[in-house]
Formats: sequence, C-alpha cells, structure tokens
Amino acid sequence: MQKGDILTVNIEKLSNLGTGIARINGQVVFVENACPEDEAKIKITKVNKNFANAKVIEIITPSAHRVKPFCPMHNVCGSCQLQFIDYDYQLALKKQIVEDAMRTIGNIDTPVNNPIASPEIKEFRHKVQCPVSQTKVSKKLLAGYYKPQSHEIVNIKYCPIQPKICDKVIDFIRNKAPEFNISGYNEQKNSGDLRHIVIRHSAYNGELLIALVINSTKTSGKLSSFAKAIFEEFNDVTGVCINFNSKKTNVILGEKTICVCGQDFIYEKILDKTFKIGAATFFQINPKSAENIFKYVKNEISKHENAAVLDAYAGIASFGITVSDIAKKVVSVEENKESICKAKEVLELNSINNVELQCADTTKYLKSIKKKFDITILDPPRKGCTQEALDETLKHTKKEIIYVSCNPATLARDLKYLCKKGCTVESIQPFDMFCHTYHIENVAIINI
Ligand SMILES: C[S@@+](CC[C@H](N)C(=O)[O-])C[C@H]1O[C@@H](n2cnc3c(N)ncnc32)[C@H](O)[C@@H]1O
Repeated sequence: MQKGDILTVNIEKLSNLGTGIARINGQVVFVENACPEDEAKIKITKVNKNFANAKVIEIITPSAHRVKPFCPMHNVCGSCQLQFIDYDYQLALKKQIVEDAMRTIGNIDTPVNNPIASPEIKEFRHKVQCPVSQTKVSKKLLAGYYKPQSHEIVNIKYCPIQPKICDKVIDFIRNKAPEFNISGYNEQKNSGDLRHIVIRHSAYNGELLIALVINSTKTSGKLSSFAKAIFEEFNDVTGVCINFNSKKTNVILGEKTICVCGQDFIYEKILDKTFKIGAATFFQINPKSAENIFKYVKNEISKHENAAVLDAYAGIASFGITVSDIAKKVVSVEENKESICKAKEVLELNSINNVELQCADTTKYLKSIKKKFDITILDPPRKGCTQEALDETLKHTKKEIIYVSCNPATLARDLKYLCKKGCTVESIQPFDMFCHTYHIENVAIINI
C-alpha cells in the first residue's frame, strides 16, 4: 500500500478516536469521516509502519446509519465528528469503543452496559470556549471552532450544540470588539488582544458568565469599557471577567482571572443541590447528563448504610456534595485551590456540614492519614490514576471503589492494575456526555 493509492473498502468499526477502520491485506487503515458499514472509495494519505491513514473520496454504499448532519458547518468544523451518524448508532459505537478498551488494554471480561443517552443532544453544551483571531486584511474578528486537525478558526455564527444565547453573545463580541480597538489574537506571532471567549451558561436558570481571555498581564481602560458593554447588552449575563494569558501555549485560561462587571460565578443545580461555577471552575459541560451520573453514584452509595466516603479528584466536591445526604461523612480531596474555595462556598450555600474539604494531592493526602473509608470515588483527569494513587486508595478503602472516568483507555489500564491487586469489576456503565464526538464517560463499580 502506498500514499495516493485509491482503494475500495468496507468500514468495519469505529476507532477510539472516531475514525472508521478498514483492513487491507490485514493492515489497519484509519479512514476520516467514515461510518461502520459504509462501502467507500478511499485515498491513502499516509502509510505508517503498522497502519495507514486515508480519506473518503466517494461513498459507494452508505451505511444505513448515515444521517444529514443538523449543523450547517459540520463539514468544516472539527467539533462534532460523529454528527453524520444517527444518535442511537453513535451510542452503540461508543459502547464498542469501551468494550475494545476493556478487552485489549484491561483484559477485563465484565460486560459493558448499554450507554445512558444524554437527555439532550442539541444545546447540551453549557461551557463554551471559543478561540478568536482576525483576518489579515480587513482585520475582522473571527470566533468559532477549529477546523479538524488545525488551528484555523471557522467563524461560526450558529452552533446547534450550545444554547442559542451563546451565539448571540459571541456575535456581539465579534462585531463590537473593533469599536473598542480590541484586536483578535495571532497565534503565530503571539500578538493581538483577545485569545478566547469563555462562556459558562447555567442549565438551571439561564445565567451566563463571560470570561475574555486576553493576551496580556494587565487590564486596560478599553477592556473594562468593552466588558461593561457586554454586561449591559444582555440581561442574562450576570458577570464579565478578564482572564490573563500572555504565554505562547495551547492552554486556554491563564492563572489569574478578575471580575470587571457583576459577579464572578453562575448558579447551577444538580439533583437538589445548588452549585456556584466560576470561569475557571471544573464542572461537567453537560449538566443534564452529569445529573444521571450523580444519581447513579448516589444510588450505589445508598446501598451501604452510613458509609464513610472519600471523594478523590473532587473539583468543587460535586460528588461529595450530591451524596452528602446519604453518607455518614465525606472527605473531598482536590489539589486546585480555586475549586476548594468554590466548594467551601457551596457547602455553606447548601448548609452541608458532613463534607470535609482537603486541598491536596490525592496520593499525598492518603499517605498522611491512617483512617479507612467504606467507599472511594475516583474521578481523575483523562490521564487516569498513578499506580501509587491506586495503591493508597486500596490501603484506605474497605468495600468499594467507584471509578468515574472520561477516558476508556486509562480506565481499562487502571482496572487491570486493580484486578491484579485482587479487586473485581462488578459493572461498567457508560454515560454519553459529549454527544456527536467519540468521547464517552464511564462509571465502574469495583469490589475490593
Ligand atoms: C475530571 S475532574 C473531576 C472533578 C469532579 N469530580 C466533578 O465531577 O466535577 C478531575 C479533578 O481532579 C483534580 N486533580 C488532578 N490531579 C489531582 C491530584 N493528583 N490530586 C487531587 N486532585 C487532582 C483536577 O484539578 C480536577 O478538578
């Protein structure tokens, strides 16, 4: 097989990164924008040692699961890779991704449950992070999402997966910024003013918090006036912040955020608890789907009367707070100071007094204590847990680990390690938080 070859293939399945997989003489070919069960003419774009990459030139026989994407920008925007596949089949394919990871990485034979669908598959995204640049000649601001595998911005006026008000706010910022002499960011030169627009939108009451991420270490009169103009234009905008990020980096938010108008948070509600979300606070982007996860975890914990619970990698202690009514005591451990501060406010807001907050690295915290918990909730970032963290978790947990994961590969790796240490995996339940992408969240129940 060579670069440039044109071949006819049948797409067998979806890869863990959302591309179709075909096989040619036993060699795996990853085909962009292909759906399992498609028969397609493809062009090989790259040949590697163990696999090749290709793009579709023509669909000869389309899969019965192909649908017309509901987003007019689907072909140019890299955000929703799977929108051309019907939603039920997306879920079936994501289940396969989890099964493959469990089998090949984890050596786990526990059956994977059917994914729980997102309650909404449009306008479900309540955290919007939109890169900004500007055209070379006319100096018009561009704001939207990146093209697939590039940092070229698609100027998106309507994004059907985010609440409509977000389109209006972004459009206002895009059109008004030049009046305030605010330029868009130039990534190559690390020049210009506005790098990103970050919007937090409450699924509970429709409030919005806007953060303007600027390429500077300090604010200016023009930025304050611009923030005020945004604040005054929209009734539902309850706060406008400025975040400072002057580094040449792909990380969106810098370390410092100041509030210039209104308040620096929005309220969100999960189950019967009220949360305060700041511009930089980690919170699930799809709160309705997250609520299903919180319900599931709470139900699992309710099977153990008066349980002492460790909520590790806690963020703003969302799990600790939602299970606090049914647990005897919860310790929520989180290394990010800002999240712990927000968690403290949330505990007060909900009059909860059986959740202890610890601002620490999970492993270090566990090494510093002697006590044991009945149940540990682990919700680490995509990279999963270190073996040391898993060892400490086992030392300090009596009955069960509830592992919440946004990455099937690292979950499978960590489950393999826990099984080697004598644990058994009782169940694996996927939840769809990121509709139309290959991402899938899982909750694994592990008996010790
Ligand atoms: C996937 S988020 C989960 C947040 C929270 N459980 C929720 O559902 O909102 C992972 C969290 O782990 C925190 N974190 C990352 N490494 C950590 C560590 N070694 N110890 C404690 N917290 C950590 C991050 O700051 C982040 O808030």
